[in-house]
Amino acid sequence: MTVTDIRKGLVGVIADETAVSKVNPETNSLLYRGYPVQELAATQPFEAVAYLLWNGELPTPEQLAALRATERAHRALTDEVRAAIDLVPLDAHPMDEVRTAVSVIGAQDLAGSGSVMDASGSAEENLARSIRLFAVLPAIVAYGQRRRRGEGLIAPRDDLDYAANFLWMTFGEVPDEVVVDAFNRSMILYAEHSFNASTFTSRVIASTLSDLYSAVTGAIGALKGPLHGGANEAVLHVFHEIGDAENVSSWLDDALARKRKIMGFGHRVYKRGDSRVPTMKAALDTLVAHYDRPDVAALYDALEAEFVSRKGIYPNLDYPSGPAYDLLGFDTVTFTPLFVASRVTGWTAHIMEQQAANALIRPLSAYSGPDERHVEGYVPDTAAI
Ligand code: SDX
Repeated sequence: MTVTDIRKGLVGVIADETAVSKVNPETNSLLYRGYPVQELAATQPFEAVAYLLWNGELPTPEQLAALRATERAHRALTDEVRAAIDLVPLDAHPMDEVRTAVSVIGAQDLAGSGSVMDASGSAEENLARSIRLFAVLPAIVAYGQRRRRGEGLIAPRDDLDYAANFLWMTFGEVPDEVVVDAFNRSMILYAEHSFNASTFTSRVIASTLSDLYSAVTGAIGALKGPLHGGANEAVLHVFHEIGDAENVSSWLDDALARKRKIMGFGHRVYKRGDSRVPTMKAALDTLVAHYDRPDVAALYDALEAEFVSRKGIYPNLDYPSGPAYDLLGFDTVTFTPLFVASRVTGWTAHIMEQQAANALIRPLSAYSGPDERHVEGYVPDTAAI
C-alpha cells in the first residue's frame, strides 16, 4: 500500500452496498427502495415513506394505519426527557439539545438490558426503537424552539398526521394544507441519501455491535457540521448578510475574494445539480405565494444565477429548504434539528441494514510520522517541569 492509495474524504470510494437508496449523479436521480423521491414527495405522507425505508415496501392501508397508531402513541415528551432538555443551556446549539434528548431516551430504554457481548439488539427491537425516535423527535425539536422563545410546551394532537402535528406543536396553530404539504415534502426529501457523512457515521457505530441510540447520537453529531446538515441554517445567514437581490453581485465579489464556501451550493456526489432541488424549490414557491414574499424568490434566484454562472456549482437541497423553513416560521437554529427529525428514518434503516449483514468498519491509514526511535535516547528536560 502506498500513499497514492489514499482517497482523502473517501472521495469516490464504494464502502459497501445498500438497498435503501440509490443516488445517481449521471441521471441526477434519487430512488428510495426503487421509488423516485419526486414521486414519493408528491403523493405520500412522510409516515408512508418512513415505512418504505424501514421495510423495503410502501405500506398497505392496514400497515400505514398501524404505523400511524404507534407513532401517535409515542409523540409526547416524557417528564424525564423534558427535564434533560431543560438542562441544556438556552444559548447552546439546538443540535446539542437533540443529541442529549436522544442519548437520554437511549439510556432509559437500554437500562438493565443487553449484553456487553452484543449491544446491537434484535431487528424487531430496533424497528420499534426507530419508530419511537421517529415519533418523539418532532416534540423534541418543537419544544426546543418554544423554550428558547420563552413559550410553553404544546402537547401533541393525535387527530393530526405527522407533518401537521409537528407544526401544531411548534406554533400552536393547526396549519393550512399548503403549509403542511410543503413541510411534508421537505421531510420526505431530507429522509435518506445513501452513505452521506452522518449516515456513514451511524453505520460505523452500528458495525461495532453498539446500540441503535449510540449510532443515532453519533449521526446527530456528524449532521451538525456546516459542510453537511448545518448548511440549511447557514443559507439563511447568507440571505441575511446579503439583504436583497441587488446586493448579490457585490456580496459574491467579496465572499469569493475571501474564498468563502457559499452554503447551500455544491455536493460531493451530484456535480450538476441535486436531484431533490426542483421538488423542494416548487414547495418553496408555494410558500412564497402563500406568504406573499416575492422578495425571497428574487434573492433566491439572483444568488443562484450569479453563483452558478461564476463557479458552475449548483444548489443542493439545503438551498431551497432554508428559506422554506424560514417562511414557515422556524428559527434558523431549528433548521438542522428538522433535518434530524427527517433523517432519523434513513439513519435507522441503514443501522438495521448494517446489523443484518455486518462487518466491522475499520479502514487502513498510511503512516507519515517519525521513523522508529527509542526511549533510551530520551532525556527529559527537567528545567521545563
Ligand atoms: C448535504 O453527502 C450527502 O448526500 C449530503 C446531503 C445529504 O442529503 O445527506 O446531500 C446533505 O450535506 C448537502 C451539502 C451541504 N453543504 C453545503 O452546502 C456546504 C457548502 N458546500 C461545500 O462545502 C461542498 O460543496 C461540499 C462539502 C458539500 C462538497 O464538497 P467536495 O465534494 O468535498 O468538493 P470540494 O469541497 O473539494 O470542492 C471542490 C471545489 C473546491 O475548489 P478548489 O479548492 O478545488 O479551488 O469546489 C469549490 C471548493 O472550494 N466549492 C465551493 C463550494 N463547493 C465546492 N466553493 C464555494 N462554495 C461552495 N459551496
